Formats: sequence, C-alpha cells, structure tokens
Amino acid sequence: MARIDGVTVECVRGDITAQEDIAAVVNAANAELRPGGGVAGAIHRAAGPGLEEECRPLAPISPGEAVITGGHGLPNRYVIHTLGPVYGRDEPAAELLASCYRNALRLAEENGVESVAFPAISTGVFGYPVEEAAEVALGTVLEEAPRLGSVRLVRFVLFGEEDFEIHRRVLSRLAGE
Ligand code: APR
Repeated sequence: MARIDGVTVECVRGDITAQEDIAAVVNAANAELRPGGGVAGAIHRAAGPGLEEECRPLAPISPGEAVITGGHGLPNRYVIHTLGPVYGRDEPAAELLASCYRNALRLAEENGVESVAFPAISTGVFGYPVEEAAEVALGTVLEEAPRLGSVRLVRFVLFGEEDFEIHRRVLSRLAGE
C-alpha cells in the first residue's frame, strides 16, 4: 500500500467482479467490447446482457483507449473498458499500456468516481510479461496520483498469488518504501 497526496494505491489478491466497495471497475476489454474470456468474460457474465448492449454503440476502440458504461448486475456503479496492447504487436507497448491507465483514470475523474479497481491489463491473453506490465501500470498510477481530484483509492486486483506478489514488490519499490 502507498499513499500519495491523499490517494491510496493498493494491491489485493482477488476477483475483479467481487469488488463491492469500489465505484468503478476496469475491464481488460477486446476492441469490440464483447464478452470474450478472462476479465472481460467474467465482467460480462456478472453484469448480464445489458452491459453488452450498452457497449455495442461504443465499439470498436483502439489500444490505449477507454470508454465508460454502467455497472448493470455488478456491485459497481461503472465499468471502464480499456483495450491493452497485444505484446509484440501493438507498439510502443509501454506507452499504449500507460494510456490505458491514464484514460481510465481520466474517465473516473470526469464521472466523480472515488474508487477504481484495475486488473493487470494485457498480462493474460495479450501476453505482456507481468513484471514489465506492473512497472508501467503502477508507475503510471503513482505519477497521476498527485493530479487526481475525486479518485481517492486505486486498487490493483490480481488473480494469482504470483501476480499479486510481483505487484506488491513493484509497488513498494516504486513508491520508495
Ligand atoms: N479478476 C481479476 N483478474 C483476472 C480475472 C478476474 N476475474 N480473470 C483473469 N484475470 C487476470 C489474468 O490472470 C491476467 O493476469 O487478469 C489479467 C488480464 O488477463 P485477460 O483477461 O486475458 O486480459 P488481456 O491480457 O488484456 O487480454 C484481453 O482477452 O478475454 C480476452 O476478450 C478479451 O480479447 C481480450 C483479451
């Protein structure tokens, strides 16, 4: 856990669809904003068909972009959908991945959101090495933190124990603890 200018950045192990105290959860989406597998599949399953319907006119999106919808059947007010880079194809990968986090935070701010939960975007099907992705993800959030107004909590939700440990280690290194 780190605190920067009143913003808490934390890492937890868990499921992105079970973050009941969070206003906006981020979806590691596909360009078409369809259900798919991994995070996107889990989010659409939990949200129900209304989410896919709301997504349809917002698609397609490009790597680094983000759009916002309601949470439907999820316990969250909003879902922010962002498309991560496919590692080894979409370049510059680090810049595109950083844009995902920046654009998601911008939409959260524009909607007066207080708390945001991110999965490890691009580290599943899209093949981004976890430690490299964690450095970009946590580095971008720590850099943005002093400029945030409404967002007071940013939570990284990691599915596996190893991913969780890597994120925790990278966070304490980058936050200088
Ligand atoms: N909660 C939190 N994290 C999860 C969950 C979940 N329910 N399910 C999977 N993860 C983790 C994965 O283990 C991985 O570390 O989220 C990370 C991102 O994995 P993906 O969902 O595969 O996302 P990404 O690599 O960005 O690929 C997106 O995958 O499912 C398709 O349609 C989606 O084409 C898109 C692509």
